[in-house]
Amino acid sequence: MDKIVIVGGERLRGDVRISGAKNAALPILASALLVGGWNTFHNIPDLVDIKTIRKLLNSLGVEIEGQGTLRVNASVITSCEASYDLVRTMRASILVLGPLVARVGEARVSLPGGCAIGARPVNLHIKALQALGAEVTLKDGYVEAKAARLKGAEIYFDISTVTGTENIMMAATLAEGKTLLKNAAREPEIVNLAEVLIGMGARISGAGSDVITIEGVERLHPAEAAVIPDRIEAGTFLIAAGITGGDVRILGCNPLHLDALIAKLRDAGMRIDVAEDSLRAAGGGSLRSVDVKTLPYPGFPTDLQAQIMALMAVAKGRSVITETVFENRFMHVSEMIRMGADIVIQGKSALVRGVSKLHGAPVMATDLRASASLILAGLAAEGTTVLSRVYHIDRGYQQIEKKLSALGGDIRRVAG
Ligand code: EPZ
Repeated sequence: MDKIVIVGGERLRGDVRISGAKNAALPILASALLVGGWNTFHNIPDLVDIKTIRKLLNSLGVEIEGQGTLRVNASVITSCEASYDLVRTMRASILVLGPLVARVGEARVSLPGGCAIGARPVNLHIKALQALGAEVTLKDGYVEAKAARLKGAEIYFDISTVTGTENIMMAATLAEGKTLLKNAAREPEIVNLAEVLIGMGARISGAGSDVITIEGVERLHPAEAAVIPDRIEAGTFLIAAGITGGDVRILGCNPLHLDALIAKLRDAGMRIDVAEDSLRAAGGGSLRSVDVKTLPYPGFPTDLQAQIMALMAVAKGRSVITETVFENRFMHVSEMIRMGADIVIQGKSALVRGVSKLHGAPVMATDLRASASLILAGLAAEGTTVLSRVYHIDRGYQQIEKKLSALGGDIRRVAG
């Protein structure tokens, strides 16, 4: 298996262009199941997770052509089963459940099972689908759902689940009557998906707020749309500039999606200039510790928690980082401690005392965002860091080592 080797100490300088958002592309590609005909989706990132959902959609009979800009045609659906071997590699496969039931009246999707960061149940997806009139049973580790035609309903999500909101919003577009999603998630990726669905003829209002209204229609038509820039990738590069004391311009991003992070990094002492579709981040001098609490959007994103922890590990002072979204998202802590970080976990919080220097070490990636945080730590550390299990990082970052080395980072991938 490949490894990534980093020699720390270089200040990052220059421009980096952000790729399309993984967490927008996945539901948008799943939405193609709702219509017959050729959709065109632009700015699809080249990631392992995208390859996985392409395989999954192909297994359902969907035709997909191209790279970057994809043409997707679900005119003929030959299967409504998402198999365990595909779903277990990517939990977001659950996003085919709602569209399949809405389009063909049935679906059999493997339960995703947990992952490193938590149990990650899909009970809220199932409960909401039942509220739309689907008959849902759990059998042999699969969710089996059937409905001649879904019926609009008022649905309240106990937790504002991102893919739960996406799954049910897609299903409700073809339901009979009106659906209200209350305590809906507000992430920009949901707004992007709603725009695509509206382009297909769906009648949706309120996406981006916590109440989304969907008026069901008989049928949808193909659409052409673009995936928004990846705010988590952009945030990761902002932090990379800070942790190396560099000066980086981040191009092709949407700064409005990064308010919480930008506020925190400015509190920590970074200079961040905001333009319409770019950011400039300078990290000069040592940074101050700040406290962080992850929350659903527009709060501080859980997907940037590990990355800002790497920054706080070398900031001046003490930072309390509280993870409220997932129950086990501190796997990166033990690896950072091996690099000399001073971190103590107390329940849902990690107490981070900044140290003057981290030291390079062999470390192991456990999940996508933890991998990114260890790369950031390696860029700032004295000496060499070797990151193994890099397949985690390839799921969500397009050629991260190439982008970082183009900014002057001493980082390379070696075949393992
Ligand atoms: C999405 O996951 C993202 N993935 C995650 O990004 C992100 O961390 C997460 O939202 C939170 O922002 C995609 O969009 C593909 P949730 P999702 O449902 O939808 C609980 C990354 O690194 N919950 O909003 O699975 C759940 O356990 C990934 O790119 C239930 O209890 O997250 C969690 O504690 C990691 N029952 C909380 O809600 C349910 O039915 C939020 O989860 C659903 C969720």
